[in-house]
Amino acid sequence: MDTSALKKELIELVAAANDMTALENVRVTALGKKGRITDLMKNLGTMSPDDRKTAGAELNVLKDEIADLIEKQALQLKKQELDARLASEQLDVTLSTRPNRKGSIHPISQTMDELVTIFAEMGFSVAEGPDIEDDFHNFTALNFPLGHPAREMHDTFYLPNDERETGESQKKLLRTHTSTVQIRHMMNNKPPCKIICMGRVYRSDWDMTHTPVFHQMEGLVIDKSTHMGHLKGCLMDFVRNYFEIDDLPVRFRPSFFPFTEPGAEMDIGCSRKDGGLKIGAGDSWLEILGCGMVHPNVIANCGLDPNEYQGFAFGMGVERIAMLKYGIPDLRSFFESDTRWLSHYGSDPLNRPNRATK
Ligand code: PHE
Repeated sequence: MDTSALKKELIELVAAANDMTALENVRVTALGKKGRITDLMKNLGTMSPDDRKTAGAELNVLKDEIADLIEKQALQLKKQELDARLASEQLDVTLSTRPNRKGSIHPISQTMDELVTIFAEMGFSVAEGPDIEDDFHNFTALNFPLGHPAREMHDTFYLPNDERETGESQKKLLRTHTSTVQIRHMMNNKPPCKIICMGRVYRSDWDMTHTPVFHQMEGLVIDKSTHMGHLKGCLMDFVRNYFEIDDLPVRFRPSFFPFTEPGAEMDIGCSRKDGGLKIGAGDSWLEILGCGMVHPNVIANCGLDPNEYQGFAFGMGVERIAMLKYGIPDLRSFFESDTRWLSHYGSDPLNRPNRATK
């Protein structure tokens, strides 16, 4: 029996099959139930034992060879099909699905970055303190005696009493102002001090101009000869830099804080016309921050000698100065996470936080 002609024919058929359907037809032709090789195998029974042996072996080899070729051709065709699909079904995964939505810096973060930039230029470093405080750091050490009416004005959130801590000054609370960091800093660091501190503060209040959580910035300068003139110069430089108005008028009015002596509030010039507000030289004033010389009792409460050390402190609401600079009308909107508000008032993350300070 000579299978070489059949073999040649089948090899040509396999090679000529140029898609999976054609290849399947070739497979059926060669190896199917009624295929050419299968037919020859059926005839083996009619042969003499010797012939059957050689012809059987030969047919098995041919069958394996052709099956092998078909499998290789199938792999080749599948690869070609895939390449063709990849070329025709291109998907550009770098395309943005929402090209108009871009992340932005929240006005509170932006304002805090600006504050750090300005005060760092003046030589201040940044200090921190905890949000959960105790009565001592929030009130007593800051010269709010027990029962002092100024304590009531802070609308304090108290935490449930801890059984182990019984004393009044250990009562836990959410800090109502960042002045707590004045105390922590003076108790833990040797003067001179020149720090700012920023963070969340908490008061139980909610309306157009009050939210139960908001942000403050605190400043503290302590050494042996710092006086009210330094306070005024420092804060004038600050507001003129922050609002980017070189001749912004300022004035200081006497005010009361238990932890300052004397205490003052600082106003900046503005004009109010037709319900609008414009910061800069004008006929009106706008309160911007609280400040004063640190009360000698506070210095003594922190373990320093008030006859040797003195200095000034100031505090302001971050949202308030952000509202004034960026024209944001309602304090509550800072905390509503409205993406339209965020993309309107948010800042470009690639912008520098401030113009270069002079
Ligand atoms: N802690 C004061 C407040 O919350 C602000 C302040 C700080 C005033 C430092 C004077 C000096 O109102």
